Amino acid sequence: MKKTLFLIGVFISTILYGQKFEGLAPTPPMGWNSWNKFGCDVSEKLIKEIADAMVSSGMKDAGYEYVVIDDCWQIARDEQGNIIPDPERFPNGMKHVVDYVHSLGLKFGIYSDAGTMTCQKRPGARGYEFQDARTYAGWGVDYLKFDWCYTGTQNAQASYKLMRDAIHKAGRPMVFSLCDWGWSKPWLWAEDVGHLWRATDDIMDCWDCEDDRNNAGFTILLDRVADLYSYSGPDHWNDPDMLEVGNSGLTVSESRAHFSLWCILAAPLIAGNDLRDMSKETLEILTNSEAIAVDQDTLGKQGIKVRDDGDLEVWVKQLGDGSRAVVLFNRSLKQENISVSWEELGYPGYLKAKVRDLWLHKDLGIFTKEFSAAVPSHDAVMITVIPE
Ligand code: GAL
Repeated sequence: MKKTLFLIGVFISTILYGQKFEGLAPTPPMGWNSWNKFGCDVSEKLIKEIADAMVSSGMKDAGYEYVVIDDCWQIARDEQGNIIPDPERFPNGMKHVVDYVHSLGLKFGIYSDAGTMTCQKRPGARGYEFQDARTYAGWGVDYLKFDWCYTGTQNAQASYKLMRDAIHKAGRPMVFSLCDWGWSKPWLWAEDVGHLWRATDDIMDCWDCEDDRNNAGFTILLDRVADLYSYSGPDHWNDPDMLEVGNSGLTVSESRAHFSLWCILAAPLIAGNDLRDMSKETLEILTNSEAIAVDQDTLGKQGIKVRDDGDLEVWVKQLGDGSRAVVLFNRSLKQENISVSWEELGYPGYLKAKVRDLWLHKDLGIFTKEFSAAVPSHDAVMITVIPE
């Protein structure tokens, strides 16, 4: 009897209040998104080619799963209020594209906005949340990124909860990616709403540039997300924005540092480059299985900066098997030695531990007390420290 009452209670509260689909992002989502490289230049042709490249390049095997179309796919609403994809760019409609992505064993993501218009002035979801969620579910969408432009006096919590409820009502599990750039501090309230939330404004394709709207290079976004480590975890990740690896603004060593740090942060790994045309170095960075394993560790801890000596930093991430991943990060203009002590890792100094270099793919030996490495300028050394 008690159990029946409990189940009725859960049922009623689910109908009244909705909920998020649980368990869709036990580790940070991995995929690709059109925005960083292509902006509004999205089409059926591009998405199919990118999906093909995700498979043929080995990205899919490395764990990349979601192919996400960002802004500008939508053009209007019909008389019934249904959202319409741009017929010139998506001549066969969106379900056709989704089916193609699914046929490759990949998942499909789409973009919308909580306000009246998207950031590029396409139709927003305001007032059409339940209808749009039904449309997306009908197309087979697996992931929704929901932006925050043209929201006027809307309340972020209420707006994102409404869309969460609309997705739940539509009945198709979708990863829900909140994108209010961290303005409402979603880490404080969104654990039950989304699977990931942007904690920063947009990433720019540079080391440390910044514009007047707070968009910035990865080293600056890293600083902004550093203190939020306690809020991130399985099914609710801090998102410092998509990767710029493979675009033109970073050197190879800077790209390696960017990727190492996103992995130590347990950040979603959403590639933002042209997967059809990647250099050997870009592919090696994006598919480094040992770095990815750190990002995808099932304990789900965001790494912490344990030392900051000006331009030289030590970042540590606790892993599920009791070992630690470490990034030694050199922001300076010349090569420097950076060391990490066992104490900083939460280990006693006498502990014998194996150190493995995750970029050289090489065991470096057994160490006690500390480890140090020469780190080139604007680069990172990434290791695991594994107690014997
Ligand atoms: C921004 C968002 C970007 C991209 C862009 C599209 O608000 O942060 O990631 O989605 O809108 O217009």
